[in-house]
Amino acid sequence: PHLATCVDTHDFERAARLTMPAPTWSYVSSFANGGHSMQGNLDSWNTITFRPRVLRDITKVSTETSILGQASSLPFYISPMGLLGRSHEHAELALVRGLVRSGAHAVISTVSTRPMEDIATTLRDCVVQEAGGPLPQLHFQLYTRPEQEPTLNYIRRAKAAGYKSLWVTVDTPLLGKRTIDRRHMAQAALAIGSEQQASNLSLGIQSFTTQAQNGALKWEDLKWIKEAWGGPLVLKGIQTAEDAKLAVDCGCEGILLSNHGGRQLHSAPSALSTLVEIRLHCPEVFDKLQVFVDGGLRDGADVLKALCLGAKAVGVGRPFSYALSAYGTAGVERCVDILAEELRTAMALVGITSLDQVHPDLVNASRLLNE
Ligand code: FNR
Repeated sequence: PHLATCVDTHDFERAARLTMPAPTWSYVSSFANGGHSMQGNLDSWNTITFRPRVLRDITKVSTETSILGQASSLPFYISPMGLLGRSHEHAELALVRGLVRSGAHAVISTVSTRPMEDIATTLRDCVVQEAGGPLPQLHFQLYTRPEQEPTLNYIRRAKAAGYKSLWVTVDTPLLGKRTIDRRHMAQAALAIGSEQQASNLSLGIQSFTTQAQNGALKWEDLKWIKEAWGGPLVLKGIQTAEDAKLAVDCGCEGILLSNHGGRQLHSAPSALSTLVEIRLHCPEVFDKLQVFVDGGLRDGADVLKALCLGAKAVGVGRPFSYALSAYGTAGVERCVDILAEELRTAMALVGITSLDQVHPDLVNASRLLNE
């Protein structure tokens, strides 16, 4: 399909399905176990409706905000995704070029295909310092290693390369059961005649990714990580009010409510339900750090719902991998444009013109809040 016919973010998934090599499709679309966490993410945002206010002058709408002290033209960013080289030959370089026109932010994965320095330089070289809107910015997602030194090395490199904040992923002490991926890998092993390997792969033994995880990471480790980094720290993958409070106690600047796109724990809570849990049990958290959410956000209107309930910004993952794979940099730009236009339209139709006017009264979450 021609890029000009992509009207919503789901169109990128359909386009990628037609063009992505099978191993890439299975990696990107994969989910934990039977897929309930992932489906739950997608469904969750539709359980909320707006409470629009009318007869307000909405002729000028601004989507500007700030993320961890950095101005941003938009309240959504591209979520960190590993191995983008499977989606596009220029991988993260093609991705970040897609930020330049809109000024959107992205969080770059530890397991990126290209070196983090090249990604940062590529963006810097593309950005033309024109008068006007905020510049695109990069943040770094950290998977810690079992040993301290390689972890410190990532942190030092990210700092030197100018990444603005560090997002430590805390929902992946080991890799979840990635069903589609395992089936695909087992079939590939069988095709080369290795029954034993196929059997191991489908049980999650011997996968190349299982060795990359650090199951020993604890709350106390955040101290040396924070010290080495020396800038804003976000915990990616908080799923309860209790852990949100612990993150505040640790002096984190942000938390990302996320179940890793439904790729880790089976029957994990959606970011929306954790957002509501925090509103109910420890609303003071919203004053002490910035709260982000991700998982299943596919429409600019969904972004607005999350902001009304207290999120500072939201992450969008898979649609950008699909857009990159099917259309390269132009696809990434268009995916940003689609979400931005949907957001502006939703803001105008609920009667607000800037993001400092978002408010819980603009959504009907009573069913959730009375739980
Ligand atoms: C991810 N995610 C992820 N998270 C992380 O902290 N480090 C990583 O390297 C990756 N890699 C990754 C690869 C792929 C292909 C996907 C789909 C996801 C999780 C990601 O950052 C984010 O939490 C979810 O993707 C958000 O959900 P949606 O928007 O994909 O539904």
